[in-house]
Amino acid sequence: MQYDTGPARLDLYKGNQVATFDLIIKNADIVTFSESQNQMVQEKTDIAVKNGKIEKLGTLNAADAAKAIDATHLTVLPGVIDSQVHFREPGLTHKEDIESGSRAAILGGVTTYFEMPNTNPPTTTKTLFEDKLKIASEKSSANYAFFIGGGSENFDQLAELEKLPHCSGIKIFLGSSFGTLLVDQDELLEKIMKNGRRRLVIHAEDEARLKERKQIAIDAADAKVHHIWRDEESALIATKKSVHFSEKHQRNIHILHISSSEEMAFLRNAKEQQSRTHGKSFVTVEILPQYLTLSAPECYESLGSLWQQNPPIRDKRHMDFLWKAVLDGTVDVIGSDHAPHTLEEKAKTYPNSPSGVPGVQTLVPLMLDQVNKNKLPLKRFVELVTENPRKIFNLKNKGRIQVGYDADFTIIDMKKEKIVEKKWLASKIGWSPFEGQSFKGWPVMTLLRGEVVVDGDTLIKPRAGTACDFDI
Ligand code: DOR
Repeated sequence: MQYDTGPARLDLYKGNQVATFDLIIKNADIVTFSESQNQMVQEKTDIAVKNGKIEKLGTLNAADAAKAIDATHLTVLPGVIDSQVHFREPGLTHKEDIESGSRAAILGGVTTYFEMPNTNPPTTTKTLFEDKLKIASEKSSANYAFFIGGGSENFDQLAELEKLPHCSGIKIFLGSSFGTLLVDQDELLEKIMKNGRRRLVIHAEDEARLKERKQIAIDAADAKVHHIWRDEESALIATKKSVHFSEKHQRNIHILHISSSEEMAFLRNAKEQQSRTHGKSFVTVEILPQYLTLSAPECYESLGSLWQQNPPIRDKRHMDFLWKAVLDGTVDVIGSDHAPHTLEEKAKTYPNSPSGVPGVQTLVPLMLDQVNKNKLPLKRFVELVTENPRKIFNLKNKGRIQVGYDADFTIIDMKKEKIVEKKWLASKIGWSPFEGQSFKGWPVMTLLRGEVVVDGDTLIKPRAGTACDFDI
């Protein structure tokens, strides 16, 4: 038995009919949450896989497996989870579909995604939800779950809808963004809070204030005022309201893409105060990579409305504060909010240009680059994209390197430097705002249930994703 060192190699030991394991990953430097130590750890171990599950950890003999991978010099993460993507199917498949979006995910080292309901039609019924599942079961290259949209037409069914198998939860929009989903009345928001038990996922911008201020955008006809139109106060009003009703009805909430220092300070306080009063906090917090790496209005000078998204990228004061919240534990999750629109659509005169930025394929390298720049400890990044989404959504058997968990892995090379090239992008829209940028730290191999699906830049096993299950 021999295997090469350096980049992970496969396929070293075929024909062992009596192998104890299907696969052994040797010399893995793993980063995972450790149950026994009750914290994130980084340690050396070998990993044995059988029937798609992690079977054993420790020092193992590669000859005991039908296949082996040498992970010397590489780091093995639990498969990365992106808990906010928009894959546009059905209805908007000129922008993206489940096949192309999931291909972008897996090529970027994301093994599992939760997809948003603002498709056309929006995912608000059992039938529409099951239609998406069916497409994904045939075409998805990464593991999947879908959110169901909450609104006036289905608020009284949400307690049942949220229990559907493979549903990641209910998502609501308090301010209109892209698509027709909207919950702009307090009364409706309260009804939704009361109908259901799972964590409610919220886009928090205040519709009334957005409407009141829209003239700012129309007059300027330039995306550089996007963060002035949809200002921090618009976001703060909706975030405060969400926390208020969540506490009143003791319903857990997850507030997506927090973009301002005011909201983050409020949330830090709310979490602390709720923990003191109730022994737990009801709120979890998501942030996006672009809020940590870009600021307005500079970003619009280079790429104009390509950086237009809701809530907007804000000025540097916010970015600095958001970094603190990532490091101090206020932030729970990093998601990409992959929201593709075509270049033609983006070229419309602002504010008719649609909001949204693609990012599922660049999430991992962009953030690993930040790790290499010493902005973020690797363990913290991994916690934000594996352990925390696992815990927040009660995802079963994924998100840890632990015996009994699914053998989904994102293997990374922290030393690899590469430029984001157009030819590597899998999204249907064919562009990324990160094109031409060089990142250090890349996924180099991705496995689903112990099978290599991406080797280097090549998707060798497409459509191998399966549906996620949740403890509810
Ligand atoms: O900018 C955004 N675009 N924010 C959202 O919340 C929705 C997204 C989209 O679907 O395009």
